[in-house]
Amino acid sequence: MAIGMQEPTRKSAFPEDFQWGIATSAFQLEGSPNADWSTWDPVLSDIPEITNHYAVFREDLKLLKELGVNSYRFSIEWSRIQPRPDTWDEEAIAHYQEIIDILRSYNIEPMVTLHHFTHPRWFLERYPWHRTASVEKFLRYTEKMVSTLRNVRYWITFNEPYVILIGGYLDGCIPPGLRDVPRALVALKNIFTSHGKAYDIIHRYIPDAQVSIAHNMSVFAPWKKWNPFDRLLKKSANHFYNHSIINAFRTGVFIVKFPFSRVVQIEVPIKDKLDFFGVNYYTRIHLRFNPFKKMGVELRHLDIDGHGLTNIGWEVHPRGLAKVIRYASRLNLPIFITENGIATHDAEMKVTYMKQHVDVVERCLKDGLDVRGYFYWTLIDNYEWLQGIDARFGLYRVDFKTLKRYPTSAATYYAYLIQSRSKI
Ligand code: BGC
Repeated sequence: MAIGMQEPTRKSAFPEDFQWGIATSAFQLEGSPNADWSTWDPVLSDIPEITNHYAVFREDLKLLKELGVNSYRFSIEWSRIQPRPDTWDEEAIAHYQEIIDILRSYNIEPMVTLHHFTHPRWFLERYPWHRTASVEKFLRYTEKMVSTLRNVRYWITFNEPYVILIGGYLDGCIPPGLRDVPRALVALKNIFTSHGKAYDIIHRYIPDAQVSIAHNMSVFAPWKKWNPFDRLLKKSANHFYNHSIINAFRTGVFIVKFPFSRVVQIEVPIKDKLDFFGVNYYTRIHLRFNPFKKMGVELRHLDIDGHGLTNIGWEVHPRGLAKVIRYASRLNLPIFITENGIATHDAEMKVTYMKQHVDVVERCLKDGLDVRGYFYWTLIDNYEWLQGIDARFGLYRVDFKTLKRYPTSAATYYAYLIQSRSKI
């Protein structure tokens, strides 16, 4: 335990049934030979199995027990389930069912993500999200999972749809690697249509299911407060990145407006297709107007509050979590912090990050906001999409040569935090 981090004895604001969890994604732990991402990032040719979690998952799941969490968010690697368009891999399905069964035997509630950035290679080559057929392909996979897997109540259809769209269709840094606004808009429609229809399918099979997406939310600030262009960028980014999805779930219409360009409106069948709202929160981003950069904007991470920058250069900004929880509460639905975490080699910094963010959640509960769960990202060090294997988000450190896992003091601290805050 970190010095000075002992909890004073006091009444906790966390209800007894608060979901204390850990979040992971399949590909980042186990890779997959048939996933689009395996050939996309050359780093993976040296470590195709990444942490070898697919083989040693039983041991890794024991770590959850050690931590004392009562919930676990993980994803299913679609490319393992459906390596070819006409093939369902029953062994892979049984593998994920075993994860669920083990979790249930530990009294840990599973939360399953169907899509966490990766696709089967055939899907990306033949039915990428800017083609209408993508919807039907995703729904077949969804129906197969929902009709086969037993004992899952919490479902996330898509992890961070906007990251898929910005990274895959505007910035080109993730598959399919395009920079194409018209296709991005078609892909947006198809992804959210898939969510809306998947919501109905899941409820058809599991009437008491709880279904959501996990939305990446950030706090934005102008790089220079006095600069009207920076302020305008901040306003637009906040509207687009944080609010337009929330509004679309309330109205069924996406309204996207960027400075100096026309307003785009896209209808999507997602009005009220949510049972809770998943928020992934990590950082604050400063925006600087720069006409020489793509779309006139430069992203900056500044250590303004003195909490430090992470291994991957992100600002630590705990207060921002309260802001995004307030934004999300406009949906009038239970909120889950489906991801929150820090990349650092420094376990003490991880402890502080975790404590500060959990404190913010507690303050929000005291203010009457309906937060039902907190999922720390992540269990063991894993593969980070744009940074490879040295980001170090894990509560357990992984030695990538031997693939051995080692607890850090942040793991001890999380276990302690759960115990002390669960006290009534
Ligand atoms: C993603 C994770 C990722 C984490 C840290 C989230 O946006 O869902 O897959 O590892 O951020 O970058």
